[in-house]
Amino acid sequence: MSVTACAHPNIALVKYWGKSNPELNLPAAGSLSITLNQFLTRTRMGEAAEDLFLLNGQPQEAARRRVFAWLDAVLPDRPRLRVESENNFPTAAGLASSASGFAALTLALDSLLNLNLSLAQRSTMARRGSGSAARSVLGGYVRLAFDAGAGETTVHGLRDAADWPLEVVVAVTESGPKAVSSGAGMNHSSATSPYYDRWVSLVDVDLAAAEEAIAAKDFSALADVSEASCLAMHAVMMASRPGLIYLSPATLAVIHRIRELRAGGTNVFFTVDAGPQVKAVCAPGLADGVAADLKRIAGVTAVHQVGLGPGAWVESTRVESA
Ligand code: PMV
Repeated sequence: MSVTACAHPNIALVKYWGKSNPELNLPAAGSLSITLNQFLTRTRMGEAAEDLFLLNGQPQEAARRRVFAWLDAVLPDRPRLRVESENNFPTAAGLASSASGFAALTLALDSLLNLNLSLAQRSTMARRGSGSAARSVLGGYVRLAFDAGAGETTVHGLRDAADWPLEVVVAVTESGPKAVSSGAGMNHSSATSPYYDRWVSLVDVDLAAAEEAIAAKDFSALADVSEASCLAMHAVMMASRPGLIYLSPATLAVIHRIRELRAGGTNVFFTVDAGPQVKAVCAPGLADGVAADLKRIAGVTAVHQVGLGPGAWVESTRVESA
């Protein structure tokens, strides 16, 4: 038997940057994101004689090690598995393929082995693979809460995608692999950034503001808190020793242009993760114009337009004859 599961990546508006327990991959604070549509990871999993992992049809050693280390951690008694994952989006888009990847893996594993996981358990299992994957189990607007006392995360759906269909333009400015992975980068920041503790203590305030903005569909309030969270995270990164600078000159050019557009009355704001690509979040109906505008900026090599989408799901189950 094999199971095929799908998941979309998500983009954090209130960022996660720092772990309280690296072994359990527990964050130091909560986060809040929007799940995208169109960009998709599709993962087929079945029992097999030998463990095997293919990414886009090719063996990929680093990804294979990460996936099977996660499988061994979350299910030590697991059978041997054949796992084939495909991403329909360019890795150069700077979208967290680990978020959609581990969410799809979790759904496939749950279904294949009849684990009957609750939504909360799926989110926690996905989080063990990648912190942001804990959010891709749900669609639309998603909050991942962190309870420091209990040492747990819980996932909450705040609004469906169709309820407030914001649009996202991804402006690609560089396509090389990232210099420092998010996992290594956040551990470096927590160990060395003088602003790290202050950053962690700020997140709850930003989460409350973002949640309120989403409840009220207040674009301007969501824009303010999202840009502030993004820039505060980059300040923590840059103040690490040695500093982590994920922003390229073209990243900054795009950020400045988005600010000009917003000052001129266009409802758009920026967010940037651990890489040089900019995600421009637009009010419904505005992405075409924003994409055309950002495409003209020197250093922007491609733009992608997507909307908001659903949480991870099982697409099909197949019984193969021997
Ligand atoms: O889930 P990870 O380990 O890839 O970390 C994600 C970190 C950021 O993308 C920078 C922020 C976030 O909350 O997604």
